[in-house]
Amino acid sequence: MSQTAWWASESLWRKSAIWVTGVSFIFLIFLTFDTVDHITAGSKSGRVKAYSVINNRIDYVFDAKRNMQVPVIGPVEPLFGKVLTEEEAEALVSKGKLTTQSKNCMNCHTLLGNGSYYAPDLTKSWLDQSWGSKETREKSMVEFLMDPTDKLHNSLGRKMPNLGITEEEAKATVAFLKWMSSIDTNGFPANFKPLDQSDAPVATVTAEPAPKASAAPAQQ
Ligand code: HEC
Repeated sequence: MSQTAWWASESLWRKSAIWVTGVSFIFLIFLTFDTVDHITAGSKSGRVKAYSVINNRIDYVFDAKRNMQVPVIGPVEPLFGKVLTEEEAEALVSKGKLTTQSKNCMNCHTLLGNGSYYAPDLTKSWLDQSWGSKETREKSMVEFLMDPTDKLHNSLGRKMPNLGITEEEAKATVAFLKWMSSIDTNGFPANFKPLDQSDAPVATVTAEPAPKASAAPAQQ
C-alpha cells in the first residue's frame, strides 16, 4: 500500500525539472542569437537598416500581404543634402541617440513604444505630416528641436520645453529620427498617415536629378 504512484515519484519530477530547464536553456540561447540578428543595424534580416539608410527616402506604406504599414526605402535623398558613408552615418545617428539619452526625451516621449505618454511617440516622427513638406522638413525639425516653446507642432495642445539643444545636436537627432523611421516595427504605430514624399510633377524645373548609384545600402 505504501508504494507511490509513478506520477508521484520524486525521481520522475526531478528528472522532468532537469530536462525542462536544459531544453529551455538551449532554446533561449538559440533565441538570443536569432534576436541579435533582428536588432542589429544592417543585419541580413533587414528589420533594422544600416545607418546609411539616412541617405535615402524612407516611406511608410501599407503592405496588403502583411496587412500592416511597412517602411519602404526609396531613391537617394540625402539628409542635409550630403551623402554619408556608413561610418559617417553611424557616427551621426549615434550622436543623435546619445542626445536623446542625455536630454531624457523618454521622460515625455516614447521611442519605439518605450517611455512616457505625455508627448507623441517618436518612432515615425520623421514622417509626420506636421512638418509640412519634405522640402521644409529638415529645417523645421532642427528649428523645432532647438526651440520648440513657441511652435505648437500638432493638435496635442501641449508644448515641448526648450532643452538647450545645439544645432549640431539637433541635426544629429534628426538623423537618429530618420534612421529610426526606417525600422520595421511590425506596423507600429498603426494607421499612421505619413507625409507625402512623392516628387511633385510641378517641381521638375527646380528639382535636381537624384544622384545615381551611390550607396543604396538598405536592401542587404
Ligand atoms: C518635458 C517633456 C518633453 C521632453 C523632455 C521632450 N519633449 Fe519633445 N515634445 C513634447 C511635447 C509636449 C510635444 C508636442 C508639442 C507640440 O505638439 O507642439 C513634443 C513634440 C516633439 C516632436 C514632434 C513630434 C511629432 O509630432 O512628430 C519631436 C520630434 C520631439 N518632441 C522630439 C524630442 C526630442 C528629440 C527630445 C529629447 C531631446 C524631446 N522631444 C524631449 C514634450 C517633450
